[in-house]
Amino acid sequence: MHNLQDIQQATDFIMNQTAHRPTIGLILGSGLGALADDIENPHCIPYSEIPHFAKSEAVGHANELVIGQLMGKTVVAMKGRFHYYEGFTLDEVTFPVRVMKALGVENVIITNACGAINTDFQPGELMLITDHINLVANNPLIGPNNPELGTRFPDLSKVYHPELRRIATDVAQEMNLSLQQGVYAWWSGPAYETPAEIRMIRTMGADAVGMSTVPEAIVATHASIGVLGISCLTNMACGILDQPLNHEEVIEVAGRVRTDFVKLIKGILEQMQ
Ligand code: 6GU
Repeated sequence: MHNLQDIQQATDFIMNQTAHRPTIGLILGSGLGALADDIENPHCIPYSEIPHFAKSEAVGHANELVIGQLMGKTVVAMKGRFHYYEGFTLDEVTFPVRVMKALGVENVIITNACGAINTDFQPGELMLITDHINLVANNPLIGPNNPELGTRFPDLSKVYHPELRRIATDVAQEMNLSLQQGVYAWWSGPAYETPAEIRMIRTMGADAVGMSTVPEAIVATHASIGVLGISCLTNMACGILDQPLNHEEVIEVAGRVRTDFVKLIKGILEQMQ
């Protein structure tokens, strides 16, 4: 389990590498890392150099922090994230969120590529996360609680910040960009769900399913960081269409949606204070 000293060492290391002091965090999902390429005056810091960061090898991820300006805001972007299915502990998965907080981040935009369960949705659309369902029998806050980091029993009634959601829907409307809204269910992976599991998850009230985001959103909420969640619906979930799922398709569709995704996030950043 990481402690305050680990967080401080990682934070000091980053602050010594760059004079940027980010207030907005970006966690970029599979195939969505291109947004980081538009960051101005970037300082790129590979995770492997940052004290106490885990090392990720997921396909389609670059595994570095990119710190700089985007739409006039100072941001810290995670190009690539740590997934539970890679074998990382949830403490390792969410450590970067703790470091973001220590760097001065007040709001984080968490993104992912996921499967659509709601049949009104189409592959290639974006979805604003309104709430989540944790289907993994684990929680990143299990263990001793340090009150300096957050409260023992955090309230999750408004994880996905209402004001940030309002900005997102306004920007999408302004840009004439279709933005679905729905509940994201977290499935551990790495195997996709079965058709029966997708029917179960739909019955439970989820509109989309993926393998990330929820642990980071829980820790961000614990740390009093405002969360905005944006999903790229790369495919219909298993059993909805009579076709097998594969990761290459997920990356390919996420890449195709890139222009809309980048436009939306930039528009949102512009409106954020
Ligand atoms: Cl269908 N399921 C999960 N768990 N993650 C995904 C996905 C499906 N499609 C993209 N990512």
